[in-house]
Amino acid sequence: MKVHVVGGGPAGLYFASLMKKAWPSTRVTVFERNRPDDTFGFGVVFSDQTLDTFEAHDRESYRAIIGHFAYWDDIEIHFRGTSHRVGGNGFCGCSRATLLKILGRRARSLGVEVQYQTEVSPLDPKILDADLVVAADGIHSRLRDAFAATFKPSVDLRPNLFSWMGSTRPFDAFTFFFRETEHGIFIAHCYQYEPRRSTWIIETDPETFARAGLDRLDEAASARYVEGLFADELEGHRLITNRSIWRNFPVIRCERWVADNFVLIGDAKATAHFSIGSGTKLAMEDGIALYEAFRDTGGRDVAAALGRFEAARRDEVEKTQHSADVSLVWFEHVDRFWNMDPTRFAFGLMTRSKAITYDNLALRAPEFVDEVDAAVACEVRALGPLPPPLAGEGSPLRSPPPLAGEASSLPFPPPIAREGSSLSSPPPLAGEGRVGAPMFQPFRLRSLMLANRVVVSPMCQYSAQDGTPDDWHLVHYGSRAIGGAGLMFTEMTDVSKDARISPGCAGMYDDAHEAAWKRIVDFVHARSRTKFCLQLGHAGRKGATRLMWEGIDEPLPEGAWPIVSASPLPYFPHSAVPREMTRADMEAVIADFVAATKRGERAGFDMLELHAAHGYLLASFISPLTNRRCDRYGGTLENRLRFPLEVFRAMRAAWPREKPMSVRISATDWADGGLTGDDAVEVARAFARAGCDLIDVSTGQTVADAEPVYGRMFQTPFSDQIRNEASLATMCVGAITTADQVNTILAAGRADLVALARPHLVDPYFTMKAAAWYDAPAIHCPPQYLAGKEQIFRNSTRDRDELLDLRRKAKPKAHRDTWKEAAE
Ligand SMILES: Cc1cc2nc3c(=O)[nH]c(=O)nc-3n(C[C@H](O)[C@H](O)[C@H](O)COP(=O)(O)OP(=O)(O)OC[C@H]3O[C@@H](n4cnc5c(N)ncnc54)[C@H](O)[C@@H]3O)c2cc1C
Ligand SMILES: Cc1cc2nc3c(=O)[nH]c(=O)nc-3n(C[C@H](O)[C@H](O)[C@H](O)COP(=O)(O)O)c2cc1C
Repeated sequence: MKVHVVGGGPAGLYFASLMKKAWPSTRVTVFERNRPDDTFGFGVVFSDQTLDTFEAHDRESYRAIIGHFAYWDDIEIHFRGTSHRVGGNGFCGCSRATLLKILGRRARSLGVEVQYQTEVSPLDPKILDADLVVAADGIHSRLRDAFAATFKPSVDLRPNLFSWMGSTRPFDAFTFFFRETEHGIFIAHCYQYEPRRSTWIIETDPETFARAGLDRLDEAASARYVEGLFADELEGHRLITNRSIWRNFPVIRCERWVADNFVLIGDAKATAHFSIGSGTKLAMEDGIALYEAFRDTGGRDVAAALGRFEAARRDEVEKTQHSADVSLVWFEHVDRFWNMDPTRFAFGLMTRSKAITYDNLALRAPEFVDEVDAAVACEVRALGPLPPPLAGEGSPLRSPPPLAGEASSLPFPPPIAREGSSLSSPPPLAGEGRVGAPMFQPFRLRSLMLANRVVVSPMCQYSAQDGTPDDWHLVHYGSRAIGGAGLMFTEMTDVSKDARISPGCAGMYDDAHEAAWKRIVDFVHARSRTKFCLQLGHAGRKGATRLMWEGIDEPLPEGAWPIVSASPLPYFPHSAVPREMTRADMEAVIADFVAATKRGERAGFDMLELHAAHGYLLASFISPLTNRRCDRYGGTLENRLRFPLEVFRAMRAAWPREKPMSVRISATDWADGGLTGDDAVEVARAFARAGCDLIDVSTGQTVADAEPVYGRMFQTPFSDQIRNEASLATMCVGAITTADQVNTILAAGRADLVALARPHLVDPYFTMKAAAWYDAPAIHCPPQYLAGKEQIFRNSTRDRDELLDLRRKAKPKAHRDTWKEAAE
């Protein structure tokens, strides 16, 4: 077989070696435009895990690589005069030039022909004349572009500018420096890769770049400028340049990687931002995956191997790209976090791409996580005086504390003061003299004190009779309250008969509804410490539809009622067309919301939420996709918000001043031309100015053809943006399933409260179980269940110790010792 590889970078050379090693009779030629020792870049990074993979595939090159590495375990973060060092990471740095020499030598020793100084033209028949053509020609791949119609590449050029530089300053940790200047923020990502050589990637936003005049400086002058910025951090060392020009990072994706006998690998097919240090790793692992695809299909069948390669590799590459995307966005928005407590800033940086979590760090760097817990607790102190500890709390077996009147003893709301909390004041303690996990820290909204940060998200039960909740609702809400969440929402409860989504929806427009809700509220208050929030809504154009399990958002086949919306646009093409609301309709709807608010107060709810999300009536005003009005309620965002704000203000005026209110919004429509995260910040600010205490951040469901990007915690970035850009308290929700995720979100300051919907449907005791896991015995438990509480706390301690032990054993081996041996 004849194999042509275009590009002698890490991807091309490693693949060529593995192929030749496995099938010596195969003729493998690598075409590389540069000379063997002619390379850009400084150091490359590999994790312990990646080194395991290299060792398994080619021990010779692994040994050579390991002999030229700098190894470190820690990540160090320097931010606003503080420094944090987080251990247990296990990374190596190696010079890119050395790596390429090692891989080139290894390839040649195996019999690969490497033709240096050979520029390949994409359509050159000599190149295409092979059984397999591998395009490993890097980020600016000419081959990919020549066949763009087949590969369908997309390039997302990111706004930040960055430059690869080097220095002689040594490091014993992967180090981040954040420096604020009169022009803006600069970030240096630094690591050592060989004795007396370190990589310095300098990054800044385009505005800071322009203000600093860097667009007018040449390579040498801009290096001198950066030397001035980071003079303290360079400790007297100089910066070294090597084609260190400023660029924008291109995130490249290709719809296809394979065309006939032609395949893209490495940066040519997909890039991953440098902040997760995975470019070279991805490239070499592509080489491995392509070789494995040949191995698994017998080594001769090119079509089968290439099919296998793309099918087997795509998920992994997309996962890494997703992590890299989340990471790059964090760096692009670092100014959002500038006023954050430095420990939580460091935690946010460590956990930015979702791969590292609270539990994960507790295992690797327990002291750091203790510090994070203390920092979260300090923020709680800044929220104002906490209620006195209740008699009997702290011991799982004591009788439950008295429940009446605890919130009313608190003074009226202190301002929400999250930022700049200081560790100099002693943190309040959650539990028995110990700082607890973030999810068990209390939270305050006006005079409402929540015992913990877990929330049962609103969930329609579609089980009411003419709007009246019944025993199903009593058992449903009652058991979730006993389960220990700090706050529980009702399902969307409608303000009039015609405001219902379905015939099974609950209402608050009749004395019978009020009485039925009061019975449930009284139970929750008498038997739990969970606070109860009434979510009020109007279905708008999504009204008169079937029960969820009979066809969500599908119009009722019979018995439908008239529906209204901002504009006469049906949800599905086959949905009923809503009537465009008149001013008189608006007045009537406002009156309905106010009446329902008063009923909610009489029923005893602790908090009130206005549902302005998910395409229902108020959301239909806010989104430009569903609001096409030409009057003062349509057009600009300010106009589109006018009616929802009128409703909110009227409710706020009718709701007791000491009780909090929230608004649920769809922070993006996930559709072209719809609302974006930036709009959501403005929407949140407008409601906050009207007296809203908490933004409940959901997304989408506005239009039927939206394209949401699902994934773990997929809506949390919007909460993060609103909380940290607008300095507002937020609640996040969406595909959050574990207590570890809840703690990670809270500790990183991405939300103040975390709501879970589906997990609570099958597990009312989510919070109780998490309390046992994190040993937070202050969680309330009714006396009838105390024996169960004691047992789960005892068992969890044992299970946790066993799991931690297993995780420690499962950690990839550290290559530090191999490195030392090889170096000697
Ligand atoms: C300026 C710069 C500096 C970088 N520095 C670092 C760093 O210090 N550390 C790090 O981890 N990552 C660095 N990266 C990223 C890293 O290089 C890539 O993620 C990784 O090398 C991808 O490997 P690859 O084999 O796919 O592509 P590359 O390493 O880019 O290799 C592609 C090769 O193909 C050759 N080539 C391209 N077109 C042709 C052609 N038509 N004919 C013949 N040969 C051709 C190129 O000369 C190159 O050698 C840097 C990237 C850039 C742009
Ligand atoms: C059965 C069900 C009913 C729901 N009803 C409501 C509702 O009445 N009001 C609302 O704002 N969201 C409602 N939601 C959305 C949830 O509150 C939540 O935002 C969504 O399910 C994502 O969270 P999860 O991934 O934890 O399930 C409902 C979700 C489910 C699964």
